[in-house]
Amino acid sequence: METLTTSPLIRDDEIFLRMNLAERIQHILLIVSFTLLVLTGLPLMFYELRLFKSVFSFENAFAFRGLLHRGAAVLLIVDIVWHTGHTVLTRRGRDNFRELMPRAKDARDAVSLFGYNVGLARWLYRKGILRGFFDRHPFWRFENPPEYGRYNFIEKLEYLSVAWGSLVMILSGFFMWNVELSLRIFPLWVHDIFVIAHGYEAMLAFLAIIIWHMYNVHLNPEVFPMSKVWLNGKITGHELKTLHPLEYRKILAERQQAQKAREDRSGAAR
Ligand code: HEM
Repeated sequence: METLTTSPLIRDDEIFLRMNLAERIQHILLIVSFTLLVLTGLPLMFYELRLFKSVFSFENAFAFRGLLHRGAAVLLIVDIVWHTGHTVLTRRGRDNFRELMPRAKDARDAVSLFGYNVGLARWLYRKGILRGFFDRHPFWRFENPPEYGRYNFIEKLEYLSVAWGSLVMILSGFFMWNVELSLRIFPLWVHDIFVIAHGYEAMLAFLAIIIWHMYNVHLNPEVFPMSKVWLNGKITGHELKTLHPLEYRKILAERQQAQKAREDRSGAAR
């Protein structure tokens, strides 16, 4: 793997836009709606817990919780509709979406990162064990972490999980909200599946956000104590080089090409 050195064409302190204002607001709306939905949904599922009993002990607490849940659900739906419109109707949205789609390289990157973090193959190679195999197949030595483009496989999985999870929650939640309509269209067992899927998907989403997303954007040593991209949308040339080297190389190649074209033009004019 070719090591990336700093190029004068991309300064380390140059600022690149990773999330524009519309994308940042969409993300904040997702945080607000999701947090409210979890806080007002999970107490219903775990109503026997003392904590939830004490929080929702005031008069009409149950009705208030339900109202908040539905309000947050509408906010989530508006956010998803906006994001879908932004994705379909803007050039930037379409480019982002294309970059977020999984490719064979992502599966390879996942294996590669796992192998790199475990470090066993590297250790075996240094000890001279299976050296012939590792010389023929250097990939399996996992000498270096994988290099990512605009989005790594973890970010892609997170995005697709939010998309799929929202679809399940909105569909099942809609029919839980409109029970009569649901029972007019479906047999009872289908409605029961909506309720079960809604509850378990909520738990899955909550745990995925708390454990997975919070690790990636806060605790991960590369961004600790917090990646500020969701607030200011900015990423520096240095961060681009270390976190998204393939995107860095792409921008560098474009700039080198543009510089060469400029030089050719000024040479021809002389
Ligand atoms: C990702 C976001 C969401 C989470 C985490 C969530 C969470 C939950 C949970 C845990 C429950 C209790 C389920 C049970 O008792 O088994 C619930 C109930 C419910 N949810 Fe959601 N939900 C979400 C999105 C939605 C959406 C988008 C809608 C509407 C379109 C919705 C409508 C409902 C309704 C109507 C109920 C029935 C109980 C009530 O009156 O609140 N939810 N939700």
